[in-house]
Amino acid sequence: MATGTDPSAVAGSTGDPAARGVHHASRAAIRERHLRRDRWWLAPAATAAGLFAFVVYSTWRAFANGDYYAAPYVSPFYSPCLAHNCVPMPAGADWDLFGPWWGLSPALLVLIFPLGFRLTCYYYRKAYYRGFWASPPACAVPEPHAKYTGETRFPLILQNVHRYFFYFAVLVAGVLTYDAVLGFRNADGEWGHMGLGTLVLLANIILIWAYTLSCHSCRHIVGGRIRNFSRHPVRYRMWGWVSALNARHMLLAWASLVSVAVADLYVYLVASGAFDDPRFF
Ligand code: FES
Repeated sequence: MATGTDPSAVAGSTGDPAARGVHHASRAAIRERHLRRDRWWLAPAATAAGLFAFVVYSTWRAFANGDYYAAPYVSPFYSPCLAHNCVPMPAGADWDLFGPWWGLSPALLVLIFPLGFRLTCYYYRKAYYRGFWASPPACAVPEPHAKYTGETRFPLILQNVHRYFFYFAVLVAGVLTYDAVLGFRNADGEWGHMGLGTLVLLANIILIWAYTLSCHSCRHIVGGRIRNFSRHPVRYRMWGWVSALNARHMLLAWASLVSVAVADLYVYLVASGAFDDPRFF
């Protein structure tokens, strides 16, 4: 790691630091900003680009307020459809909890929960702290900010609400599961049918569940607050499953982010008439 570094710049490397004008610092004094020679900026740049693309797409779709239902498919961005101004859907898919006074896009009532869950996710926090705030941009690369208070103060201390967003995320995943099951009907509401959209919604809900259950808060709910596992064999087994998923949390975070956007895009293309849903049977 010290290749290319003037050894005399490193306190304590030779002789008495005080004699060289270097006082007892807790860290080595290195002239270079950092010693990394690899393309450390690639990961935060790619992360920022990916997240930015999703934010742009989801913002457009959330405010579009149209082309989110193509029987029997409903976009995950608009489900559950809570407002009176939702397009007519089969029983159970629109809930009509917000009356005619709600004039904005129904997606705005729903997206706050999955977006809150992802915004406060431990992985995404790391991703956007690095990608957008350079705090820090990468391991062993100092951040440009003068001081660091972490998540101990307002507003970042609010990240602790993540565990509560988890419960809402489970509810939303339950609704999206119901939507995926409805995908086995045809446009007339008859069961026993399947199209490409059915597979798109199924793949999406599998990834949504995998991401949700791989959550660190879920792992704590399942396996935390007990003194030993020997008296809780069921919880131990569940903790093992959640831990296996948790080890792939980053991968699942990206896979489910892409799948939810693809599912919405698919419904948009079918609903807008740009694409015909191929039916298998
Ligand atoms: Fe990522 Fe909970 S830690 S979803």
